[in-house]
Amino acid sequence: MTGGTRLEGSVRISGSKNGALAIMAGALLAKGKTVLRNVPKIGDIFTMVETLRSLGAQIEMNGDWLSIDATNLTSHEAPYELVKRMRASFCVMGPLLARLGRARVPMPGGCDIGARPIDFHVKGIQTLGAYIETEHGCVYAESLKLRGAQIYLDFPSAGTTQHLMTAACLADGVTVIQNAAAEPEVTDLADYLTAMGAKIEGAGTTTVKIAGVDELRGVDYTIIPDRMEAGTFGIAAAITGGDVTVTHVVPEHLEPFIPKLQDAGARVDVRENTIRFRMLERPIATDVMTMPHPGFPTDMQQPMVALLSLADGTSVVTENVYERRFKYISELQRMGADIKQEGRTAIIKGVSQLTGAPVTATDLRAGAALVVAALAAEGKTEIAGTEHIDRGYENLVEKLCSLGADIYRADSERRGTALCLA
Ligand code: EPZ
Repeated sequence: MTGGTRLEGSVRISGSKNGALAIMAGALLAKGKTVLRNVPKIGDIFTMVETLRSLGAQIEMNGDWLSIDATNLTSHEAPYELVKRMRASFCVMGPLLARLGRARVPMPGGCDIGARPIDFHVKGIQTLGAYIETEHGCVYAESLKLRGAQIYLDFPSAGTTQHLMTAACLADGVTVIQNAAAEPEVTDLADYLTAMGAKIEGAGTTTVKIAGVDELRGVDYTIIPDRMEAGTFGIAAAITGGDVTVTHVVPEHLEPFIPKLQDAGARVDVRENTIRFRMLERPIATDVMTMPHPGFPTDMQQPMVALLSLADGTSVVTENVYERRFKYISELQRMGADIKQEGRTAIIKGVSQLTGAPVTATDLRAGAALVVAALAAEGKTEIAGTEHIDRGYENLVEKLCSLGADIYRADSERRGTALCLA
């Protein structure tokens, strides 16, 4: 986009990727049909659909809803080629154990934001009474009946909290998860499981209590909006000096993010289920520290650094959740950003302009950072690695074009399909 066309208009936010994935795994707990609405049509959802189908669940998809009938599960083994594609599919282990008494799930790979081990998951499932062994890159678990237990998480891990909540729903007795994650996607999962008949208290706080029940039933449930997509559009508005309203959102889910964007100079007007983002001057440098919810979300770190690379002044961004979530910085530097990384800290000296360049996305939110940087950069940017972006953003090109961006997909011989911003 030459000279950074201002984005203007309104855009409807899709359902939450991270909320939907956890709920889809939880749907395995019910001998019945769940209908999920507001499900984003993105790569990770399709991968989870394939994973659940491989276990015997009957799934139908139609627009933004899908039905999952897990009455007759035919396998306790999740396929490696699916789990390696997406870490969240590891969370089918708990429900499989609860339903079938055994599960074999490949260890998910690490990725470009960190090692992403599963030790908290394994320890939690063992604490619930399962026998676990890891061999040949797979985790095998067995248990006639999981038993409620006290579990203390070394770190408020979102995925582990969600996984153990689902495993505990059909356990014998009460489970208490301490130092639990409080992300909105944890609360959304608890709301879904409760609608199915689970007995859960404290979701959204650091202590979650689950009293096991005998059976859960399928329900009709609507997924919460994707707060990370909403935040990404907020940053896209700010970096182009634009005026964008995101609709169908839950503003309080963005409470840890909005004040920091305001520190960077954005005007933010919150209504019942819309948020208007504007930027009238050059962004202002500000410091950011990512933390588990309700701290600044780590998934917004990368697009935020892109915005701060154009700020007036020097910003310090500290990534406290993942140990390797700055890999994309070298790509921003190719666009003219002046960023120095020291361990988990990035020091961003704002520059007056970024210039378009061929760059490569290495993970989902790195891709988001490159897209927002390219929206503001002078000249053409070609972004390879679009498969990472398509994992988590539904119709991103169409949505940005509706706001005035000049972005299109191009098959570039050098780099497969790329997102091009002219
Ligand atoms: C979820 O990942 C999200 N993914 C991530 O979003 C998000 O960044 C993360 O939560 C933090 O909010 C999904 O929900 C599918 P964690 P998750 O367990 O659950 C360490 C995106 O871009 N850890 O909260 O895997 C881990 O390495 C993605 O949408 C262990 O050490 O994250 C990390 O440093 C990226 N051992 C920290 O905890 C474990 O067993 C937080 O991870 C588990 C986690």
